[in-house]
Amino acid sequence: MRVRPSFKPDSRLFSLAVAAALSLAGQAAWAQAVVASAVSPGDVLQVDVRIDGAGKLGYDIKRRGKEIIGLSRLGFNLANAPKLDGGFSLRAQKTSEHDDTWEQPWGERRYVRNHYRELRVDVEQKNRGGRGLTIVFRIYDDGVGFRYEFPSQPQLVDAAILDELTEFAVAQPATAWWIPAGELPGLEEQIQKAPLAEIGTANTPLTLRLADGTHVALHEAALVDYASMWVRKVEGQNLRAQLAPSSTGPAVVKHGAFTTPWRTLRIADDAAGLYMSDLELNLNEPNKLGDVSWVHPSKFVGVWWSMHLQHTSWNAGPKHGANTANVKKYIDYAAQNGFRGVLVEGWNQGWESDWGHGGADFSFTKPYPDFDLPALAAYAKEKGVRLIGHHETGANLPAYEKQMDAAYKLYAKLGVDSVKSGYVHEAGSMQFQGADGRVHYGHYDSQEGVRHFLKAVTEAARYKIAVDTHEPIKDTGLRRTYPNWISREGARGVEYNAWGTPPNSVDHEAKLVFTRMLSGPMDYTPGILSLVGADGKVFNSTQAKQLANFVLIYSPIVMAADLPENYAKYPAAFKFIRDVPTDWAETRVINGAVGEYASIARKDRKSDDWYVGAVTDGEARTLALPLAFLDPGKQYVAEIYRDGNAADYRNEHRFDLVTETKTVTAKDVLQLKLAPGGGQAIRLSPQR
Ligand code: NOJ
Repeated sequence: MRVRPSFKPDSRLFSLAVAAALSLAGQAAWAQAVVASAVSPGDVLQVDVRIDGAGKLGYDIKRRGKEIIGLSRLGFNLANAPKLDGGFSLRAQKTSEHDDTWEQPWGERRYVRNHYRELRVDVEQKNRGGRGLTIVFRIYDDGVGFRYEFPSQPQLVDAAILDELTEFAVAQPATAWWIPAGELPGLEEQIQKAPLAEIGTANTPLTLRLADGTHVALHEAALVDYASMWVRKVEGQNLRAQLAPSSTGPAVVKHGAFTTPWRTLRIADDAAGLYMSDLELNLNEPNKLGDVSWVHPSKFVGVWWSMHLQHTSWNAGPKHGANTANVKKYIDYAAQNGFRGVLVEGWNQGWESDWGHGGADFSFTKPYPDFDLPALAAYAKEKGVRLIGHHETGANLPAYEKQMDAAYKLYAKLGVDSVKSGYVHEAGSMQFQGADGRVHYGHYDSQEGVRHFLKAVTEAARYKIAVDTHEPIKDTGLRRTYPNWISREGARGVEYNAWGTPPNSVDHEAKLVFTRMLSGPMDYTPGILSLVGADGKVFNSTQAKQLANFVLIYSPIVMAADLPENYAKYPAAFKFIRDVPTDWAETRVINGAVGEYASIARKDRKSDDWYVGAVTDGEARTLALPLAFLDPGKQYVAEIYRDGNAADYRNEHRFDLVTETKTVTAKDVLQLKLAPGGGQAIRLSPQR
């Protein structure tokens, strides 16, 4: 460990040194003395922690000697006590190294290496009776995470946090891909590209490309019982943490000792490097659920797209989709085509209410009379299929939490081992039950919201049920700790192509991969081969891109979302949807530029097959795909699903799909020709 000599800041020497440094540099108070420092295991990243003459705390990050994050402030404004900012002196510092490899029950790769150096910095405010705070940095070669630890201390028994003063002073002009915070719940804004200096208050992950090409993604890990971190542009390139507000008081209220979530920065040469990092997963606690063999990565179909097309309805009536006969057909279809799950939405009573506007009147145990839940669950099981449950809550948490236990219990009894949940509402209107028993409204990503989302998952775990959350809190890697949190939405999904104004843009997937997907799996509902939404709206996509999305947009549970009758029209393309797995031994990003193109190769967990998905934005491109990831000793059959020569998302040639096979080895380099708005999907199997 390389640790810089540090000053004892409370000594005379420290003040003299600081004073000398300040006058020498002729700089303002922020030209501080370094009190602690550490570098990543491979000497790539370096973190310096500084305390200035006024005792303000700050840090900076260098990559191979070059500043990436300039001097950035650390601290808190409290509502119930003087602020934790200024007057700090160093009490102690400690460094250590950690290196191990852990196994994921499911994921994008089976084994994850967790190799970092840790720097613990204990500071105290002498003028506040020695009130203490610890900042812990974990420094990896591909990123940095840091969090605050609040000790149990008489000087601060309860902490009411008004705001975090944590800053990220990006050291170079940068381009940002961002979505605004506090707007649409569930992170469903269109992803915007802008100079960093021009963005507003953003959600995370926030992806940045610096002037020298370095890529940085700001996010957080292990968001538990704390408000979500938004980042607010304060001045120039400076970002400051802003905690999602509470509607009842300070953003975060804590009792006794606690730690904040990790503030994370992935730092890499390029977009591909950002994606390959496991920073947030590594910063989460190991699996707390033990054996999770009851969590099943798999594909599913369901009564879903037909509702978004308005062919069928969620609520009862002549168009009711979730009727026994219809669902039986879906079960048969799933069994015939090797899909494990059948999602059924609109099975339960209450959809007649104005459910999307907080008026949810749902029962989570009472099916509509035309839906025979026990019989269908039994029929599905008999066919080797499982119903996937559905809990749309309309973000009415008091109503949902009251019924949650009974709802999970019912599903568990019937063998329904996964539930899709939903929290449709408008910004700031999630309903919460206060300690006084009264209902109030607030942000879904406030501390109260964060608590609920995790509670829904841990309660489900008691019944061995996996949860796929829609309109969710963002993913901060908690799937490591609670592997039954199998997927979530958390961005504009394919449903926007049914009814969205506008529908998803042609560069949507190429943006998603390097922004939203940095946080974790997404239930994107890919595979609409018919390329048409409600009212004849067409997709900004070729058919080949729909296939590529199965590999590109990772989720251990994936919906083959189109109507069975549409799949029947395209048997060649449908073969790929049947074949593609959802759980991976390895993942490699081969090509990538944020919002322009991406190609990812993944190795199946259960076989020696590899799968590739590649997409482009509106531009035609040829991407080189070196097959060096294949086993060098083997020949492979490549089943290729590519854009035809005339394919183009802007006209009827969006359906031009060519399927062909080639024999290849690890020495080959495939040239992937992608049409405007196009893509390519490939299955590579060792030749027998
Ligand atoms: C929005 C979800 O994203 C969608 O998948 C679901 O069908 C509706 N809410 C109804 O719950």
